Amino acid sequence: MRLLAIESSCDETAAAVMTDRRELLASIVNSQVDIHGVYGGVVPELASRKHVENIGPVVAAALAAAGLDLDDIDAVAVTRGPGLVGSLLVGLSFAKALAYVKGIPLIGVDHMAGHLASIEFSEQPVSYPCVTLIASGGHTALVHQRIATETTVIGRCLDDAAGEAFDKVGKILGLDYPGGPEISRLARAGDPAAVAFPRAWLDRDSLDFSFSGLKTAVALHVANHGGSAAADICASFQEAVVEVLVEKTLLAARRFRVPQVAMAGGVAANPRLRQMMAARAEREGLRFTVPPADFCTDNAAMIALAALLRHDGTDSFDIGMDVYSRAAGV
Ligand code: KG4
Ligand code: ZN
Repeated sequence: MRLLAIESSCDETAAAVMTDRRELLASIVNSQVDIHGVYGGVVPELASRKHVENIGPVVAAALAAAGLDLDDIDAVAVTRGPGLVGSLLVGLSFAKALAYVKGIPLIGVDHMAGHLASIEFSEQPVSYPCVTLIASGGHTALVHQRIATETTVIGRCLDDAAGEAFDKVGKILGLDYPGGPEISRLARAGDPAAVAFPRAWLDRDSLDFSFSGLKTAVALHVANHGGSAAADICASFQEAVVEVLVEKTLLAARRFRVPQVAMAGGVAANPRLRQMMAARAEREGLRFTVPPADFCTDNAAMIALAALLRHDGTDSFDIGMDVYSRAAGV
């Protein structure tokens, strides 16, 4: 069985082809960063229009990279949500039309289930039960995975997601959008102890996250001292985010008595977070896995894998399948 997967929940148009033996034949990601960069964030209407332009060529590129054509595809998987409704509708409509014309199954996939599945792309094998940190532009959550597909959200974000905080701080410092990669690049030359930004632990035992106070602290610091020491500010801000993400993940692993932790989502591409999580997990005697950075940020390979993990061969075609903007409970 060969599955074509489509992802268009935000500002990346992505397509991938995977076999039911989980062999990844192609993964194409077309980013719209150039279009949204001038506005300092994703403009939903522009994103939808760009997806309309991109979707055909991106799917064609994925099929070409896999050395296949449409007749070789046995099922279509697509992200249903959470995300920008207009953007999601482009992917879903395209996938629906394709599956309808070809008479093949259409599998709707949750974007967060995709991020969770992406941990299987790690070089080290993942063992379950596992506590997984999802840190992206839209979500920060801790998830207990009893097995790959049986998941419970055990910690969630009360305000700005970690990636959103990176992007907003990038904006405060006048950096290019998205702020995350820029901040991690600048932070390499900075001192993480230069500015004592607050750590939002919330209650001592809480597994929830809050990053809006930290973002405000950076804004106040820049208002009072200027933003010229950008490397130090970036390193100090990044350290404040990373420390909270790492310690809460380890707290969750202890509380749920799991020997394995993992990370997913765009922020999991952050080198300092990867390094700190690896070091702290090792010290606690925990196994740690994280996918290569390209599989942390949005992609369709993770949507293909999430579909295959749940696909039992009985999925049919539902013409009424719809998108949704918000995650249930994350
Ligand atoms: O998972 P993702 O591609 O899209 C969502 O589902 O939101 O995550 C995008 C987020 C953005 O906020 C971006 O700034 C952040 O991931 N990000 C990073 C890094 N690379 C991407 N944050 C910190 N450090 C990075 N190296
Ligand atoms: Zn994502």
